[in-house]
Amino acid sequence: MADKTPVDSLTEDQAAQELARLAGLIAAANTAYHTQDAPEISDAEYDALKRRNAEIEARFPHLKRADSPSDQVGAAPADGFAKIRHVVPMLSLGNAFEDEDVTDFVARAAKYLGMDAAGIALTAEPKIDGLSLSLRYENGALVHAATRGDGTTGENVTANARTIADIPQVLTDAPEVLEVRGEVYMSHADFDALNDGITAQNEDLLAQGKKPRATFANPRNAAAGSLRQLDPDITRARPLRFFAYAWGDLSSPLADTQYEAIQALGRFGFSINPLTRLCATVDEALSHYREIETQRATLGYDIDGVVYKVNRLDLQDRLGFRSTTPRWAIAHKFPAELAWTTLEAIDIQVGRTGALSPVARLKPVTVGGVVVSNATLHNEDYIQGRDSKGAEIRGGKDIRVGDWVQVYRAGDVIPKVADVDLSKRPQDAVPYVFPTVCPECGSDAVREEGDAVRRCMGGIICPAQAVEKLKHFVSRKAFDIDGLGAKQIEMFYDDPDLAIREPADIFTLAQRDGQNLTKLKNRKGWGDQSAANLFAAIEDRRKIPFGRLLFALGIRHVGEAASNLIANHYGDWATFETAITAASDFEGEAWQELVSIDGVGAVMARSLVGTFAQPDERRSIDALVAELDIEAAEKPDTIGSPVAGMTVVFTGTLEKMTRAEAKARAEKLGAKVAGSVSAKTDLLVAGPGAGSKAKKAAELGVRTIDEDGWLALIDGA
Ligand code: IVH
Repeated sequence: MADKTPVDSLTEDQAAQELARLAGLIAAANTAYHTQDAPEISDAEYDALKRRNAEIEARFPHLKRADSPSDQVGAAPADGFAKIRHVVPMLSLGNAFEDEDVTDFVARAAKYLGMDAAGIALTAEPKIDGLSLSLRYENGALVHAATRGDGTTGENVTANARTIADIPQVLTDAPEVLEVRGEVYMSHADFDALNDGITAQNEDLLAQGKKPRATFANPRNAAAGSLRQLDPDITRARPLRFFAYAWGDLSSPLADTQYEAIQALGRFGFSINPLTRLCATVDEALSHYREIETQRATLGYDIDGVVYKVNRLDLQDRLGFRSTTPRWAIAHKFPAELAWTTLEAIDIQVGRTGALSPVARLKPVTVGGVVVSNATLHNEDYIQGRDSKGAEIRGGKDIRVGDWVQVYRAGDVIPKVADVDLSKRPQDAVPYVFPTVCPECGSDAVREEGDAVRRCMGGIICPAQAVEKLKHFVSRKAFDIDGLGAKQIEMFYDDPDLAIREPADIFTLAQRDGQNLTKLKNRKGWGDQSAANLFAAIEDRRKIPFGRLLFALGIRHVGEAASNLIANHYGDWATFETAITAASDFEGEAWQELVSIDGVGAVMARSLVGTFAQPDERRSIDALVAELDIEAAEKPDTIGSPVAGMTVVFTGTLEKMTRAEAKARAEKLGAKVAGSVSAKTDLLVAGPGAGSKAKKAAELGVRTIDEDGWLALIDGA
């Protein structure tokens, strides 16, 4: 996947694509978080996306997009509130993850100022996990309150802010104009009580047949959802709190230093965080970070790191800002969150390719602000305390039902069980025995040599595999049939009259429905329109591109990219089918042709050929194909191309382009790019360091040219 490619090895084209992809992901995450108060990815994942974006921009500054996420803070304000433009923008903070990042931050500031790092004192304070708010006071009276919004314009939430006890309505002895900035948050206790109240009310609502209300995922969402209420009475009923930690517009300075300025805010009547410290050196700041980290679990509210700020305000002024972050402050984030809970059961899920995946059912626990009740246990070795190579993990401790386990959530959406506390193991806990038969169909579950995963051998007779395969078949990158998703697949699979047991059944659904006494449109949850829409959506997909069809079959190891490569290579389905049938000897010419496609390895080829050679699978594929109109792969526009139809192999080091670029260009010109030299090779392009392939080409009399020769050949094409 593109996001795994190290930034160092991205080509310019890939980098541009990746920046576009990241801009989209980050914008969506911003909207979910700021506008809808419903985050879809973890903070760690969000940070990783922003970091990758920044790294790519640093390497390719000219590719930086006009809508670069680096230049944006938060998201545009939601509709419904009046807008307030911030006189002084509300910016965000750069992130540090390691101690070294903090040392570098101070070194950079010192260099910028032409000072010695030892002379730069810092304040260190908890980074509160809530939402920021700017309060404007004129002549001591609160005149308005605004959320951060996109950093320039926020939402006017004045009426709501006035309901928060920590926010003074009137200040004495304050500057004529003073904008106080800080974080609105909810304590753990208040959050729990709020959610308990919702749960209790839901029982009544359910009893009255009404729709229940969702509880809040974490205190930050609860705080955001409570502050951004159009009815201030709702906000008033929610126990919100506020810590002041910064300021915006000011008619006269508060003090000479950050630390003193914060104390002044305290004197005006604001809550200031008691863990705010003045640190003379970076080491002192880092040790305060560790101190705060040890207190984190008992603070009673969520924090997600420590913020360091250069103490002298004259230095802050000189340092100023980069596009959205100050040079004088940085957030040192805590690592991924952990929590301990009881493992109540281990369930086995059977996937599309028959893989048996153990899933931990947990006593629900909050990890990094999200309630977790399921976690992956990966595979049987992992449960036993071994990695895929047989080496010990977790000191060789196994995991048993009843154990006290540590749950870990990092960039992943799926939490993991990371550790087990043997001192809390119940006396009667027994080692987990991984099933050797499929729990869904009773077929043998076999673990092949070198495979970490045990697989059900039932193939399409296994209902779990069949259902998962069908879900994949209708998924977005496959057939993408409107109105036929995972939910409907489960419903139709078991339906006595309209059974969808394999892909072909989807395309006979309308016809079968026509012959039934009880029509789909008369069933619960369906009507004239929805049934007609479904049949039309299915009809719409009868015509399908070859590559998409191949991917939709869900053959193990044959992903989207490979499916398209194979489709492009063979062109049309009939040619492919003949070739794949002929390749079942795993050695002849047809087999050689298949494995010579660049991007198709022996493992993938074996899986593909094996599937077509398996009688049940083949019958199912043939039945499907009989229902479809398969579009041949588009032939590249190769008129006038000097290499059209040629089979080309690249070897050795290419100096003027990357291998991926060379390949893409050659394919565009109608050449087939193969990974190995054979009698079918028309041309070998050999850069410095070419070895065995060049030798083989010489033996076979294959024409060999160097990179310049290749560029000259395709020049102007
Ligand atoms: S200082 C110019 N101090 O973190 C920088 N921010 O990631 C002004 N936050 O938007 C921010 N605790 O919402 C600062 N002690 C603290 C903070 C803090 C939480 C939030 C704030 C800010 C975000 C930046």
